[in-house]
Amino acid sequence: MPRIRLHLPGGSGPDRSYDILVRPGVIGEIGPTLAGYGVRRTVVLVDAAVEATHGSAVLESLRGKNIDAFTIAVPSGEGSKTVDEAARIWESMAHRAVDRQTHVVAVGGGVVGDLAGFVAASFARGLPVWQVPTTLMAQVDSSIGGKTGVNLAAGKNLVGAFWQPLGVFTDIDTLVTLPDREFRSGLAEVVKYGMILDGELFSWLEGHAESILARNAGALTRVVERSAAIKAGVVEKDEREQNGLRAALNYGHTFAHAFETASGYGAMLHGEAVSIGMHCAARLAESLGRIGPDVVDRQRRLLEALRLPLAAPKSGSSPDSLIAIMLRDKKSVAGTLRFVLPSRIGRVDLVDGIDAAAVRHVLG
Ligand code: NAD
Ligand code: GLY
Repeated sequence: MPRIRLHLPGGSGPDRSYDILVRPGVIGEIGPTLAGYGVRRTVVLVDAAVEATHGSAVLESLRGKNIDAFTIAVPSGEGSKTVDEAARIWESMAHRAVDRQTHVVAVGGGVVGDLAGFVAASFARGLPVWQVPTTLMAQVDSSIGGKTGVNLAAGKNLVGAFWQPLGVFTDIDTLVTLPDREFRSGLAEVVKYGMILDGELFSWLEGHAESILARNAGALTRVVERSAAIKAGVVEKDEREQNGLRAALNYGHTFAHAFETASGYGAMLHGEAVSIGMHCAARLAESLGRIGPDVVDRQRRLLEALRLPLAAPKSGSSPDSLIAIMLRDKKSVAGTLRFVLPSRIGRVDLVDGIDAAAVRHVLG
């Protein structure tokens, strides 16, 4: 299944459906594809760590079709997902006379994808954007679905916009250079898909942890394709997180965002925080009688098999300070705690009004 179509019919507006092309070497198709859209000019926002490799492959493909392309490199890491970095890019684009005919191409992981998407959504009131994810996290999750944004000191992703790409080029070959810790971080979101929607995927992951960690090409292709298809399926049913379906993708994330905010952005990788967050969420669900210990154990064993963490390093953040951060999370409503909690493997519910004492208990 090399092409996944995310359907977003426009209603009274234009159709915003797009393709997620998953195949080795697909980076080379960027130039021809954009030329097919009549694109003449692009700005390539690229993670500095991959500028010389995947960034230059993107430039070569664009220029091969006589598409004008200039690059703005973004320093690697979560510390770049800021209003300041967005402003630096806006200024630089203004100096290069970027106009509404210029397309943005985001090359990198979730940090560059989220930042570039936000810059595209906001510059000149909106430029078309294409995503070229080069981390597992970005290929299975962040490049799909149009959530873009930056962090504030007060909380993760608090400023942003829904801004769908025109297409996603997912080249599994780019993962060859990805460090192991970053690779494992992306696997947390794959476990998440199994927990929230696909018990069969969860069981398959349990049986293939070693070949996944060894980055066996077949296993990796299956992981990326299945995850991208699940994410696309959710987004097309609930683009703006309005009917509860997309909210399921936030399983483990209320805890995760609090850990990331409290520990200082970048200290903990996003997927590591999600892994710890899912373990907390499962224990919370167990303490509320929603699941038995067997579900907590199966999830714990799979996370351990994929060498993902289950507990945050002792940082000195008290449970109460973490809860205060959770109350500022976009997912909380009217000052009450709201969590996505499992009812079995492959199914979760959005649960409102959870008592802070129960949350304090799993954080303690
Ligand atoms: P990242 O973008 O920081 O990339 C991880 C590291 O890998 C960086 O150091 C980067 O320089 C490096 N890198 C990237 N591609 C590489 C490659 N091919 N080879 C070698 N090194 C490479 O982190 P990430 O895990 O990709 O993304 C995390 C971010 O994504 C977080 O900010 C998170 O909030 C966001 N996110 C967003 C969504 C969404 O729906 N928008 C979903 C999930 C996560
Ligand atoms: N990663 C959460 C979402 O896209 O909704």
